[in-house]
Order: sequence, then C-alpha cells, then structure tokens
Amino acid sequence: MNSSPPSLLDLQAAPSRRHFLAKALAVGGSGFLLANMKAWGMDIASRHDAPPPLSGSGRGKTIVILGAGLAGMTAAYEMSKLGYTCKVIEARAFAGGRCQTARSGTVLEELGGEKQVCNFEKGQYINFGPWRIPFNHRSTLHYTSSFGIPLELFNNDNDAAYVYNDNAAGALRGKRLRQFEVKADMRGYVDELLAKGVQSGAMDQQVGAADKQLLIDYLVNEGYLSRKDLRYRGTEGRGFKINPGAGISPGPGVPSDPLGFSDLLQSKLGHMYHSVHEFTQQATMLQPVGGMDAIAKAFEKRVGKMIRYNTEVLSLRNHSDGVEVGVRDVKTGATSVVKGDFCLCTLPLSVLRQVDTDFSAKFKTAMQGAAYAPVCKIGLQMGRRFWEEDDGIYGGHVYTDTKGINLISLPSSNWQGRKGTLLGFYSFGGDAAELSGLSLAERTEYAVAAGEKIFPGQYRKNYESSFSVAWHRVKYNLGGWAEWSEEARANAYPVLVEGEQRTLLAGEHMSHLGGWQAGAIESSWQQMVRIHQRLSAQAAAA
Ligand code: ALA
Repeated sequence: MNSSPPSLLDLQAAPSRRHFLAKALAVGGSGFLLANMKAWGMDIASRHDAPPPLSGSGRGKTIVILGAGLAGMTAAYEMSKLGYTCKVIEARAFAGGRCQTARSGTVLEELGGEKQVCNFEKGQYINFGPWRIPFNHRSTLHYTSSFGIPLELFNNDNDAAYVYNDNAAGALRGKRLRQFEVKADMRGYVDELLAKGVQSGAMDQQVGAADKQLLIDYLVNEGYLSRKDLRYRGTEGRGFKINPGAGISPGPGVPSDPLGFSDLLQSKLGHMYHSVHEFTQQATMLQPVGGMDAIAKAFEKRVGKMIRYNTEVLSLRNHSDGVEVGVRDVKTGATSVVKGDFCLCTLPLSVLRQVDTDFSAKFKTAMQGAAYAPVCKIGLQMGRRFWEEDDGIYGGHVYTDTKGINLISLPSSNWQGRKGTLLGFYSFGGDAAELSGLSLAERTEYAVAAGEKIFPGQYRKNYESSFSVAWHRVKYNLGGWAEWSEEARANAYPVLVEGEQRTLLAGEHMSHLGGWQAGAIESSWQQMVRIHQRLSAQAAAA
C-alpha cells in the first residue's frame, strides 16, 4: 500500500471532490477513504447514506411488516428486492404514516373530534407531518434521489421574516421587528463589548497578549464596529429607514437606527436562533416539490401490492418457527391471522402498547419508556401572498411568543403565486394539548387572531380556509413523535432496539433521529440487516 496520503496541495489542485475521492480510494482503499472523509469534515451524513448492501437471498421467507409508514415501506422495498415475501399490514386506506400532505379532499378525523375535509383550492397544500429535509439526512435524500422526486429549497431561516413578542418586558413588546435588525444589533453590541473589554485589559485573564489585537481585528472585520473607536452605530445589514435607489433622491438611502441594547435584552429574543441553527436545521433544507407525501407515494408505487390496507393489528405472537399476527378488517370487522417467519413492527409505541402481544414483562415495561409528543399544527390558505407582496418575506418563519403559536411559517413553494398556504401555528407539549381541545373553527380563530397582530389588516382579511392536526389525537399515531428521557434512552431504548424473539421494532422512535423521516428509514435499514442475518443463519444451520 502506498502510505503517503494526498497532500493539501493535491487537494487544492484537484478539480473536484469526486476527483479527490477517487484519488484517495486509489491511494489507500475504502478504509482510508472513510478515515479521510471524516478527517476532511465530510462525515456530514446522518449515520447512513444508503441501504445496507445485503447479499444472499430471502427467497421462501416471509416478513410480516406492521405499518406502511416510511419505516415499513423501506423494509418492504429493500427486503423484497432480496427475494423476501413482505406482507405489510396497514390500518389506514393509504400508506405513508405521518408523511401526509393535506390538499383538497384530504380527510382527517381526530379521536373524539370532528371530521375535517380539506377544502383548499387546487394547488394549495400543507405538509402537516414531516415538512423539511435537512441536507445531512442522506438516507431520506437517497430515496428522493433514487425515486426521482424533485426537490426545492425549504427556507428555514429567513432574516427578513418578523419576530414579534407580545409577552416579554420592555420597549420592544408588541413591536414587529425584522430578524435582521435584531441579529445585527445584538451582534454589533456584543462585538463592541468584547472588543472594548479586550482593549481595556478587562479580559486579560481570558485572552492572551498575543491574541488581543488579533481578536479585535477579527471583530472589526465582522463589519459591525468602527475601527477608530470600536463602537457599534448600526449597519446596513439591519436595513434602512429609506432604501437606496436611483438618481438624486432617495440616492444612497437613509440609514436606520439601532434598537436599544437594554430593550433587546429585555425582549428575550435570543431563543429565535436556537432551533434553526441546530445540526438538523441548518441550511440547506429541502422539500419535495408539490408536497412531502411525494415520498410516501413513491414508496407506495413500488410496494403498494404488498400492503394490506384497512387492516388493524390486534395481536402478535412469536413462536419458535415464526410469527402470527391477528388482524381485523376495519371495514367488515372480519378477523384473521397473518403468518410469517419474522415480524418487523413499525407501529409507534403509543399504538403498539394497545396491541395484545406476548412480549416479556421487561420488554413491555421498556415500551412504556418513551413519551409521545402532543403536536398541533394548522394550515391557513390565504387569498393573497401579502407577506411576499407587502413585506418581501419569501419563506422562513415568523417567530412569536404568543402562547401555542411559536411560529408562523411561510411557504417556500410557488413564490409570487396568487394564493398561498402558511403554517399558522406549530404547537408542542401542554400548549398543543390545550389547542387540540378546540374545534377547528376555534383553532382557526386563535391562529388568525395571533397572525392579525403581526400582519394587521391583512391576515384576517385574506384568510380563506384551514386544516388542522393534533397528532396526539390521531388514532394510528397517538403523538407527533417519541420523546426519550435520558433515563429511558439509557435503559428502555436498548431493550427495544434488541427486539424480542422473532420481532424487531423500527420507526423514528427506534433512532436518535427522533421526529425525522431519516430516523424511520435508518432504523429500518438497521433492523433489516439483523433480520436477514438471523434468517440466513437459520437457513444455513437447517
Ligand atoms: N422534524 C420535525 C420538524 O422538522 C420535528 O419540525
């Protein structure tokens, strides 16, 4: 083996990353390549980029898969390619699990609630389950790519979008601000504090003599401070009072004044950066053109023949030579038994807990380990895209501290179209539980009233139609996603990942990518390897 790795010079000279990868592989083999990818910061993926390369055959063996969500359909798709017979049991009349998009005619009935029939106009939709795909969820992107699903940008972080706090103290309460104002001013003030602190020697304990000037230079180069006196007096990045234009007037425009430092602190707006800068939410985020359910439908097109729809799981029995799943036809009430060599159960734990199983007491206790998040959303069809036309906001989220609203998310598709459908609230936990107690009309009124404060004169006037979900009240989901306490993650989760007898579990709940489609897909990939190993070993021993 040639032991000299490519030099940095080689890399800079390389015409493309592909070239580098080919070269690295040639020099050191795949182990070397992997180490290099990590070393070069290219290990950007969720754990797995592509399905496991399984060899051998599953011919003559049957896998009973419970649930035709993304985890179940991933397993059916991949395992059937190996020759396994896959029998997928699905309670609903359609596949996809939580990967759903509401458009005209979509029906949703929450437990104990009214029956909603979406009456959005043609072309309008809301992704009321998964709604964004991080660039680092390579497993999800593996399928959008191989199924040829067109993607577009999902704007997850728009500096031009507003932030509006109604409850925090201080002069900014009830004021609609652009996120770029807040970001620029806070950055400017903090840079000033730091630069002056370093210059005056107040930070000599923290910053060594050799680094002092370097740090000051760095802060000045960020562009918020005057080099002369290290003061922040505002910046173009926070917007203008009057924008620059052509000719003499408005000419160069009129600069805007920074907000007060103390006012900014009292408004407690720091949290607005929090979620969108986390690993799973950094740019670039993506979405399928026309609705997230394109992913569900692409899988369904390939595995639909293996799915038994309208069929609820009643019971699960593991035997030494196979599994038996008791099922009920939702339409006729007729019960029957589905048999197979192995079971992959992708039902959410919240649902599985209600199934009559022969799992051990230890396993059943572990099944209680995850809490399921109450999550409530509402899509609002608006007759005019006033946020684009009047305010210049193209996608992204408007943040607010109005109870239960959290954010108003503006569509990232069909910019400059006539109508638009936005997400009117994205509510979690106790707030979601409260909101979900309201009728659709009441939820709509709550959302519209909150939005009207931020877009006065437009929000209510343009509102046309709504569609809302409370995932914790949806019969075959009973929650938005699984949530693990540290203790449950340490104790219950490993027991569940191990599975029992001839049953393994998969789904977002069986991953550290909770609440993401990648979690469902990758847990399925992981468990199908184990099933295949188990059944192949048995076949070899027989
Ligand atoms: N993955 C979920 C989201 O994007 C939680 O909001």
